[in-house]
Amino acid sequence: MASLAGKVAVVTGASSGIGWALAKELAVRGCKVGLVARREAELKTLAAEVAAAGGTAVPAVADVADRAQVEAAVAAVRQALGPIDLMVANAGVGKATRLDPVNVADVEAQLRVNVLGVVYAFAAVQGEMLARKSGHLVAVSSIAGFRGLPGESAYCASKAAVNVYLDGLRAQLHGTGVRVTTICPGFVKTPMTESNTFHMPGLMTPEFAARKIVNAIRRGKKVYAFPWTLAMLTKLSRWLPDRLVQRVMGGYDTDAEKGPGERGA
Ligand SMILES: NC(=O)c1ccc[n+]([C@@H]2O[C@H](COP(=O)([O-])OP(=O)(O)OC[C@H]3O[C@@H](n4cnc5c(N)ncnc54)[C@H](OP(=O)(O)O)[C@@H]3O)[C@@H](O)[C@H]2O)c1
Repeated sequence: MASLAGKVAVVTGASSGIGWALAKELAVRGCKVGLVARREAELKTLAAEVAAAGGTAVPAVADVADRAQVEAAVAAVRQALGPIDLMVANAGVGKATRLDPVNVADVEAQLRVNVLGVVYAFAAVQGEMLARKSGHLVAVSSIAGFRGLPGESAYCASKAAVNVYLDGLRAQLHGTGVRVTTICPGFVKTPMTESNTFHMPGLMTPEFAARKIVNAIRRGKKVYAFPWTLAMLTKLSRWLPDRLVQRVMGGYDTDAEKGPGERGA
């Protein structure tokens, strides 16, 4: 297992949920951490918590859907902490996909944040990692990227795009010293999932998920999907007839038509 001590890491979406817990876990393992998100107050609170525990973290505000903001935030972290060794593109949004009218703006937002947010975060560090022949690109995708789910088409499509983007990148970067890890969690108890009314099998705390993710990063995993039972069942469900998928997972769809719109996994 590779040690993370002394490495410079950036975590996008660090102001909440999985990203918050991940940043803390990386700091505990000895990383200096750049904290990226839009909410500055939350990032400052997290930076203070990390400092109080003896670690180093700097906030850098950015909307990950805006490439110039991402470049500027990463440049600020680089200036404060040094060259970036580890980029964790974690920022994401989850919105239901409605049928009539189709909430196209929500679909667009998910593709911008969940897909382009990863592309921009990686683009901000790929050059320096290639030049140094060392680095690690990590994206927090989702088990939801393994198949389209009723009421979650756009979210699932965004995560499937991340999975495939990273597959290509991993092969292209083979032999360069730059590693690529795709993280596909199941359900995690965060603000993204708190309004879900359906049963979330295997629901994890963000701290538990963060420990699993950091261990996968240290082991240099290509793709890490957990819990493995949910990952396997989701993959197998691709072969189920649509009527059965709608019967088993149709609660998602019903919620999508009625609910507040925040989704997850
Ligand atoms: N919770 C789950 O069950 C679950 C399961 C699998 C995968 N995931 C994935 O895990 C990641 C984190 O989700 P979470 O559950 O921790 O959700 P969360 O608690 O809602 O946190 C989302 C984070 O993303 C940031 N973010 C959203 N839009 C952004 C933007 N335009 N620019 C910059 N930052 C932005 C938010 O920060 P600001 O609002 O401050 O910008 C926040 O820090 C997401 O990619 C999600 O898809 C979640």
